[in-house]
Amino acid sequence: MTSDKSSASLMDKIYKNQRHFYDLTRKHYLLGRDHLIRHLSAPKGSTVLELGCGTGRNLIEAAKAYPSCQFFGVDISSQMLKTAEENIHKAELSHRIHLAQGDATSFDPFEKFGIDTFDRVFLSYCVSMIPPWEEALRNGAKLLAKGGQLSVVDFGQQERLPGLFRWFLIKWLSKFHVAPRAKLQDVLFDLSKEHNAKLRFLPLYRGYACYAELDASFYTRFMEKPEQLELLSAGNEGEREIRKAG
Ligand SMILES: C[S@@+](CC[C@H](N)C(=O)[O-])C[C@H]1O[C@@H](n2cnc3c(N)ncnc32)[C@H](O)[C@@H]1O
Repeated sequence: MTSDKSSASLMDKIYKNQRHFYDLTRKHYLLGRDHLIRHLSAPKGSTVLELGCGTGRNLIEAAKAYPSCQFFGVDISSQMLKTAEENIHKAELSHRIHLAQGDATSFDPFEKFGIDTFDRVFLSYCVSMIPPWEEALRNGAKLLAKGGQLSVVDFGQQERLPGLFRWFLIKWLSKFHVAPRAKLQDVLFDLSKEHNAKLRFLPLYRGYACYAELDASFYTRFMEKPEQLELLSAGNEGEREIRKAG
């Protein structure tokens, strides 16, 4: 497993110069980020955490979309956080977006933000960049407040795109230490069972990207009726089988 320190210096090396033109270029190929923000459906006055927040682009858009919420961002790269801080200051949102340096796989927010859990936690195009990505998802799910929602957007498996395109994309992404995670749906499915949550998994743009939600509000709604939880778990299983078959 890569240590926190070496992951941080690798990310700093990658983004030291790129951070200056990151937002201009990434808007063309980090697709589905606005879909995730629209589907956050953050309740009034709720708290939202982004793990691997990069330049703060998503936090700023989300803060505009949900004006009564407080936002928190964590990134392992101090270089990216510099740009995030500048962008958030320019957008005059410093009072609602709080940043900290940390590793998504182990981040404990209490020390930095004074809060243990969040109503919404999301990861946008960072699962494909974190070698122990399952740990980042597990930690994200652990940081969810009761009835909260974990959302993920990332590169998909390009299943409905031409083979040559897929080959080129995977090769090109690997130059930036990015790898689409073929087992993402399975790992999220296991987490949904652990957290009694409903999993929605959606390929976007012919599989170029994928979007997933772990909705734990189902647990809160059904906790009074354990037999409903069994039905929910059977529903998740059925959905996964249908997707695998299709
Ligand atoms: C492709 S960028 C995505 C940034 C942002 N989420 C977005 O959608 O524009 C990936 C980000 O993940 C961060 N990152 C990589 N490994 C990380 C880790 N272990 N913990 C926290 N952040 C990490 C990188 O520093 C980088 O800012």
